[in-house]
Amino acid sequence: MKTPTTLITGASRGVGEALALRLASEGRNVAALARSKDKLEALAARGREEALPGTIIPFAVDVREPAAMTECVKQVEDCHGPVEVLVNNAAVVQNIPFAEQSLEQLDAIVDSNLKGTMYCTHAVLQHMIPRRSGRIVNISSVAGVRGIAGQASYCASKHGMVGFADALTQELVPHNIQVATICPGAIDTPLWDPEKNPYPGEVDISETIQPGEIVDLVCYLLSQPEHTTFKRIVLFPHNEWH
Ligand SMILES: NC(=O)c1ccc[n+]([C@@H]2O[C@H](COP(=O)([O-])OP(=O)(O)OC[C@H]3O[C@@H](n4cnc5c(N)ncnc54)[C@H](OP(=O)(O)O)[C@@H]3O)[C@@H](O)[C@H]2O)c1
Repeated sequence: MKTPTTLITGASRGVGEALALRLASEGRNVAALARSKDKLEALAARGREEALPGTIIPFAVDVREPAAMTECVKQVEDCHGPVEVLVNNAAVVQNIPFAEQSLEQLDAIVDSNLKGTMYCTHAVLQHMIPRRSGRIVNISSVAGVRGIAGQASYCASKHGMVGFADALTQELVPHNIQVATICPGAIDTPLWDPEKNPYPGEVDISETIQPGEIVDLVCYLLSQPEHTTFKRIVLFPHNEWH
């Protein structure tokens, strides 16, 4: 019998990378998705070097490509094992007044964060629903529950994720599939690039949430009984009040 797999989007760095390593260290097989093939291969190699009990399987894929996502999920199911958990984590952000944002950047944010989540979920559900089993964890943001000046497109995409998940949670109860959404404030990851996209908060990014805290939360959700729904969790550092 094939071993169940956890599919994580955005696994080449930040929260996704930390989550892939933690789950593999707990013996889960992880399909690690992102666009950066080299980083994913390095992550898989690290898993092997550290002799983690679970395998990290790299898939270089863009979540904005629905056909590629469908094919990727099919490959995971056929060659590695059923996708028992999907973590929709891939995202991009740009901190800029909306009127100054290029339409290309607007599209990249909404397409990656919202439509990418929807495409991955759609592909995975084709397999989870017939099995009547599965868990989906979406990494949204506090930008999904409030407005943040300078992040209008990001807020639109993250609010969209929350609305999508609210509807989906209800739809999937009869299919025994759980959907949970995590809405964090700032996390200390490479999402914030000091040169190209600095963290707009007033403190140093290192004083905000650490990726391991989000990983702990995902692991907690995955360990909960099937009959309980954790619909939405909002958390933020005290130096960034929402
Ligand atoms: N950092 C924060 O302050 C913060 C706060 C609240 C919520 N979040 C959320 O937390 C999640 C993780 O973010 P992070 O901070 O870990 O960001 P990160 O370090 O920038 O990582 C983002 C990941 O998404 C991948 N990605 C981006 N666009 C993609 C695409 N089109 N197709 C496939 N993969 C793509 C990136 O890989 P490639 O570039 O290799 O594709 C990377 O692995 C995101 O949903 C983010 O919105 C972050």
